[in-house]
Amino acid sequence: MSDKPVILVTRKLPDAVEARLKSDYEARLNPDDALYSKDELIERVQGAQGILPCHTEKFDSDMIAQLPNDVKIIANFSVGVDHCDLAAAKDKGIVVTNTPDVLSDATAEIAILLLLGAARRAGEGETLVRTRTWKDWSPSFMVGVQVTGKRLGIVGMGRVGQMVARRAKCFGMEIHYHNRSRLAPDLEDGAIYHNNLEDMLPLCQFLSLNCPNTPETAGMLNAGVISQLPDGAVVINTARGGVVDDDALIGALASGKLAAAGLDVFNNEPDIHTGYRDLKNTFLLPHIGSATAETRDAMGFRALDNLDAYFAGREPGDRVA
Ligand code: DGY
Repeated sequence: MSDKPVILVTRKLPDAVEARLKSDYEARLNPDDALYSKDELIERVQGAQGILPCHTEKFDSDMIAQLPNDVKIIANFSVGVDHCDLAAAKDKGIVVTNTPDVLSDATAEIAILLLLGAARRAGEGETLVRTRTWKDWSPSFMVGVQVTGKRLGIVGMGRVGQMVARRAKCFGMEIHYHNRSRLAPDLEDGAIYHNNLEDMLPLCQFLSLNCPNTPETAGMLNAGVISQLPDGAVVINTARGGVVDDDALIGALASGKLAAAGLDVFNNEPDIHTGYRDLKNTFLLPHIGSATAETRDAMGFRALDNLDAYFAGREPGDRVA
C-alpha cells in the first residue's frame, strides 16, 4: 500500500501532466475522459485526499456536503472557479485552488479571434464557402465592421483583459476598461479607466467581457447595459456564459442594435441557447480559450504545484478558498 496521497482526476489530462501525477501521487485517472455524474464522482472519490477537477464538474454546496471528510483539497484545472461553492468548501475545511496566469495568452488569442471573426463575419463567410453557397463578389458582399482604430471597452482588466488590450493595441484600438480597481500605470499601459461601467458603455464600439462570473457579475450584460452601448457595437465573451443574459443579447443581435457577437463561453454548455445558432451575426466557438498544448500542460503543472504545496504542508500559491 503506497503512502502517497490519493488524487481523483476527473478528466483526461495531457500526458506529461499525468506522468507527473502518477509519479508523485496515487492518481485515479480517467483515461476515457468520461464526464462523471455526481453519483459517479462521489463513488470514485471515496478514499481520496484530493480532487483535480475541471470546470465541467460542479461542486455546489450539496456536492461539497457529500464529499468524504478525507478530501482536503480541490485543485482545479481552470482559472474560473464559478463551478465551486467556495464558501461551502471553506466551511468544510477544503482548500480550493485555481490556475491563473498560464492561460492568459491563449485566451487572449481567442478573444482577438472572436473580435475579428464577429466583426468581419468570418462564421458566415466560412459557411458560404463550405456549403458551396458562395455565388458572387460585389462591393456590397459580406461587408463587416472594421476593427482598426476603434474603441474597445474591457470589463475585467485582470491578466486576460490586459493581454487582450495589448493585442488590440496592435490594431490601433483605443483601450478603455472597467475594473474593481484602477491598475498601476505600467499595467494600465495607456488604457483609460472607468470607475463606473455606465460611463464606459457609450464609448464601446467593441466590448470584451473578461471578468469572473461572481454573484456581482452574473447576468451583467443585460438589456439595460446593452442599451447603453453605441448602435452597431460588437460584443465578445471569453469569460463565462453566466455574465450574459442570453435573451437580452440575442434580442439585441436580432434587432440589429448590436452588429455582432463573438462567443466562446455560454450558459449551460454545451446545450446552449438555440437563439445563438439561429443568428447569422454570431461567431461561436466551443469554450476553447485555453485549448493549446502549451497552455493545457501549464494548467496541469500549475494544479500539481498547488497539490504539491498542500501535501508538503505549505500554502498553495493559487489558493482561492
Ligand atoms: C478556465 O480555466 O476557467 C477555462 O475556462 C477552462 O475551464
